Parts: sequence; structure tokens; C-alpha cells
Amino acid sequence: MRAYYYDNVPGDQRLPHDYVPTRPVSKETLDSINVKFWSIPVEGYEPKVDAVAKERGYKNRDTINVSKEGLGDVYEQKIKGFFEEHMHEDEEIRYILDGSGFFDVREMPTDAWIRLAVEPGDLIVLPAGIYHRFTLDEKNNIKALRLFQDEPKWVPHNRSQDTDINPHRVGYLKAVGVGA
Ligand SMILES: [Fe+2]
Repeated sequence: MRAYYYDNVPGDQRLPHDYVPTRPVSKETLDSINVKFWSIPVEGYEPKVDAVAKERGYKNRDTINVSKEGLGDVYEQKIKGFFEEHMHEDEEIRYILDGSGFFDVREMPTDAWIRLAVEPGDLIVLPAGIYHRFTLDEKNNIKALRLFQDEPKWVPHNRSQDTDINPHRVGYLKAVGVGA
């Protein structure tokens, strides 16, 4: 996984949006916003992903395919929806099996976008309450495991003044040492 600051240049969200030269983001910065990641080769991944899942209490999983073929007519609309800035009341955990894409997460307290370019073998955990968004890249294909503890509550709460005071958002800010 490569992490770098998003350039904020208007245009196709599927482009890399990398500054020239690139502005890399360190592991320490990702730690400071509670984003976790592991690199586990896809070949023979199961025992290693199982071990992380066991340690973190992820009892369940399913597989998601995002591609033009898989989604058909609603593809463009879905892609736009995933790219709306939002948060969840649970962690968002993904292990990439095939394809690639971009998760954008907000750095705190700067509110800058950090782009996480994910590829097969990347396991990422976005904490509950972090503002983020997702897009495919120009290859238009990703296949990922979604891991979760019990019943998944993948309701997106789009960024707003109301969401800013959601207890999970407030809890997240406290956890990363921002806000009261
Ligand atoms: Fe999300």
C-alpha cells in the first residue's frame, strides 16, 4: 500500500491525484489517525488473515466485487456514492484479493486528504468515526474481503454538522487527541 497526500486537483477521481513530486505519508502519520494496515501475500493468505481476524475479533467476512461488469447500469452512480465523504459507526476492514483502488482518509487535525493506494495483499482497518471515501482507479476493478465482528452496520453517515456530533465521530476525535 502506498500512502500520499491527495492533490485536490479537480477531475476524474480515478486518477492517482498525486502531487509532483509525490508527498508521501509516513506510517507514524497513519498511526496518529488510527489507520492500521498489514501486508499479507494473497497466495496462502488465509491463515494469516485468520490470525489478524482472531486477534481483533472479526468473526465474519464476505467478498465484494466492484467492477463495471459486476454492477452494470448502476456502476457510475455507485462509484459516485462511494466517493461521498462519510463515516461509519464501525471499523471498515478490507483485505484486497484482486484489482486495486483508492481509500481517501482525512488527516487530523489538518483535515487534509491522504490517499491510500491499495493492491492485492493489503489489509486495512479504518477506525469508526474517521471521515473517508473510496474510489476505483482507472482499471475499474477491485475484489476484497470485508471483515466484521457481528452484524455489519455499513451505514454511511455523510459528513455534515449532525455527523460531526455523532458519538462515534466525537469518540474518534478524542481517541486521536483532537477536540475535547
Ligand atoms: Fe465507508
